[in-house]
Amino acid sequence: MGKKRIGVLTSGGDCPGLNVAIRSLGKTAILRYDMEVIGFLSGFSGLINNEYIVLDEGRLSGILTLGGTILGTSREKPFKNTQSEADKVESKPELIKRNYESLGLECIICIGGNGTQKTTHKLAKMGLNVIGLPKTIDNDIWGTEITFGFDSAVSIATEAIDRLHTTANSHRRIMVVEVMGHHAGWLALYAGLASGGDVILLPEIPYKLETVASYLESRYRRNKPYSIVVVAEGIEIPPIMREKYYSPAHYIAESVQKLTGLESRETILGYVQRGGTPTAFDRILATRLGCYAMELVEKKKFGRMVCVKNGEITSIKLDEVAGKVKLVEPDHPMIEEARSLGTCFGNEG
Ligand code: F6P
Repeated sequence: MGKKRIGVLTSGGDCPGLNVAIRSLGKTAILRYDMEVIGFLSGFSGLINNEYIVLDEGRLSGILTLGGTILGTSREKPFKNTQSEADKVESKPELIKRNYESLGLECIICIGGNGTQKTTHKLAKMGLNVIGLPKTIDNDIWGTEITFGFDSAVSIATEAIDRLHTTANSHRRIMVVEVMGHHAGWLALYAGLASGGDVILLPEIPYKLETVASYLESRYRRNKPYSIVVVAEGIEIPPIMREKYYSPAHYIAESVQKLTGLESRETILGYVQRGGTPTAFDRILATRLGCYAMELVEKKKFGRMVCVKNGEITSIKLDEVAGKVKLVEPDHPMIEEARSLGTCFGNEG
């Protein structure tokens, strides 16, 4: 009998630590379990189109510190039915099943965010042996306390905001900085706290512009010549304003300038937050999750996502994860702690 073969793919937005996870599970598969590893290219597209590379030891060397993913990624959703898809002889899920069988795969490890875990769950329901491995800078995957990519993004955002402090101070301005997080405000909360943000606006906490403005004015009156406002990209802005302003940060900066008369500027960190080398924390986390994923493969515990629970590496059924998002609870201890330092979340009073 030949060696067992596993497949791996990275799907969704990239983040620091993807190559660490690929390296970890790949090396563990080869060196500990004597398996073969192939990597599908560009997320689920590679699985649909049977495009892959063999990940041997050589290919897995020298990628620990590398940002992005050596496999490429995409936002391909194989279960999303388009009209042209419905006309095809073989649907995308059928193509995936055919490739999985013809390659004789023992398991596919799908590294990705919420959307990826949902797709991986659907593949499990089709009878494929799959394991989900969570990643995202947003830290919003249900069922795991932390995702790799998050710590790196928090560090990058914190450093960027530290730099904004000096310009804000020199020009006596309000600096509004927008960080990623469409649904969840974890990145804004952590980077905001780490960088001493005066105002932190999260998608989970409805804010009032007037509350933010009067807080900024009161700081100014107390001889605080500048302020830092950290906003998550997913905060609510009135639909009528969406055409006028190119981003939430732009809307907040112009609005507070109008309301307070204080000069304001916006900065959008964008993809800078997702690029580059992972922090030591993310490297360790991604390495541990990769090793654990292979342990699940060896024990044939499929249909699960590796995760962190009570600080320990473990796993959870994909059934329990699929379709959920882990949001910041408005009474999260960090919010209370920040409030005790005088930080404004836009809903006070
Ligand atoms: O990786 C998650 C995330 O960064 C979200 O916070 C953001 O909204 C989204 O990806 C945008 O990514 P893209 O433009 O690559 O779809």
